[in-house]
Amino acid sequence: MKVHGFLKDIGGAGRVTRRRRAAIQNAGSQIVTRDPIHETALSLHPRTIALRVAGIRETSPTARTFRLAPEGPPLPVFQAGQYLSMDFQIGKTITTRPYSISSAPFEARGANPFVEITVRKKGSTFVPDYLFDHIKAGDVLTGSMPHGQFFYEPLRDSENVVALAGGSGITPFYSMAREIAYGKLDFRLTILYGSANADDIIFRNELNALECPKIHTVHVLSEDPDWKGEKGFLTAELIKKYSEGDTTYLVCGPQAMYRFVEKELKALQIPRRRIRREVFGTPKEIAKYPGFPDAAIGKTFQLTVRRGIHEDTIPASSGEPVAISLERAGIPIGTHCRSGECGFCRSQLLSGNLFVCPDGDGRRKMDRERGWFHPCASYPVSDLTIKIPIL
Ligand SMILES: Cc1cc2nc3c(=O)[nH]c(=O)nc-3n(C[C@H](O)[C@H](O)[C@H](O)COP(=O)(O)OP(=O)(O)OC[C@H]3O[C@@H](n4cnc5c(N)ncnc54)[C@H](O)[C@@H]3O)c2cc1C
Ligand code: FES
Repeated sequence: MKVHGFLKDIGGAGRVTRRRRAAIQNAGSQIVTRDPIHETALSLHPRTIALRVAGIRETSPTARTFRLAPEGPPLPVFQAGQYLSMDFQIGKTITTRPYSISSAPFEARGANPFVEITVRKKGSTFVPDYLFDHIKAGDVLTGSMPHGQFFYEPLRDSENVVALAGGSGITPFYSMAREIAYGKLDFRLTILYGSANADDIIFRNELNALECPKIHTVHVLSEDPDWKGEKGFLTAELIKKYSEGDTTYLVCGPQAMYRFVEKELKALQIPRRRIRREVFGTPKEIAKYPGFPDAAIGKTFQLTVRRGIHEDTIPASSGEPVAISLERAGIPIGTHCRSGECGFCRSQLLSGNLFVCPDGDGRRKMDRERGWFHPCASYPVSDLTIKIPIL
């Protein structure tokens, strides 16, 4: 930046105003639709990135890792622990799913840069079925910029980290472990990794290969009586056994696991500032969640949706978040975290009642009071009228 001195600088504003006035007077009658400033901002901070599937490998009998290479502009910088929100069109449903980046940040900056996502498929699932059955090497997927606050921050977190992982919740910790092994992150990581049985363990060999004084993984199996290592769940006793001094606890896995682990950490009187979490989605059966109104169980309500000048009325099951009903009806609603945390899907409730799952209520106080809600983690319990953003 060039500094001219006080008087020349404040005089500059007047010169710009004169030039703008002259430009307006001399402008033609044609309407200008281009916005060069917006175009420059988008080229520097694109909303999405095209990712070519460079390879697919099995990383457990139920999980596949998709290696994604940039198709156009370079991969964005990210922190180990962040996720990509991937776009999908499956039939008439336009949807997204967040997947934690399982590769390490240094791998996105090498000679052959890539990011990896690791997807678990157990039983019949919507997006994992699509990824396993239809996506092959060479296909191009669309992903968002990296999102999320689930990463190690030395100013806030302790030098000892105990990671409490359940199922596919190992992915952000695998990324952190690789970055530590590469020397770009510096903390001691003990991963307590809960799985049902040995076949469910993702990255088993890879985690073994990373064992060193800074990285240690303890597998805890709940459904294998013959397992020689730790058995059962991630209990307070087990957490205490593997914690040393001042420790930060990073929890990642499904809602049910988080609820269990939260009680165990409370029993150990761990201060809240030492616990951070990434929850993989909303509860599987919301009707069983304490406080869900009995009268709404199994019901389908009318959902009136306003976006701009459009108004549609669609069915909305009380068992699914509002975002899913919109997607089933082919009405696009932008989402990133899909667990009520990030606020990207923020919409307005004009009438009716919702059940907002307390575990995924990331609304600001002001939003709660003024009727704003997050459709990805809110369930209809009466007929509703809502206003959603236009994409
Ligand atoms: C921050 C974050 C990171 C994550 N990282 C990972 C990860 O690293 N690895 C991983 O495996 N998972 C990860 N997940 C979970 C992942 O995003 C998916 O939730 C998971 O793969 C299950 O897929 P699904 O939601 O499609 O499964 P399902 O449970 O089958 O489907 C979810 C919903 O889609 C609905 N649905 C079914 N059919 C339709 C249809 N036709 N139209 C519209 N909706 C329909 C279902 O009713 C259901 O409510 C992460 C989640 C979060 C929040
Ligand atoms: S997508 Fe993050 S709050 Fe809904």
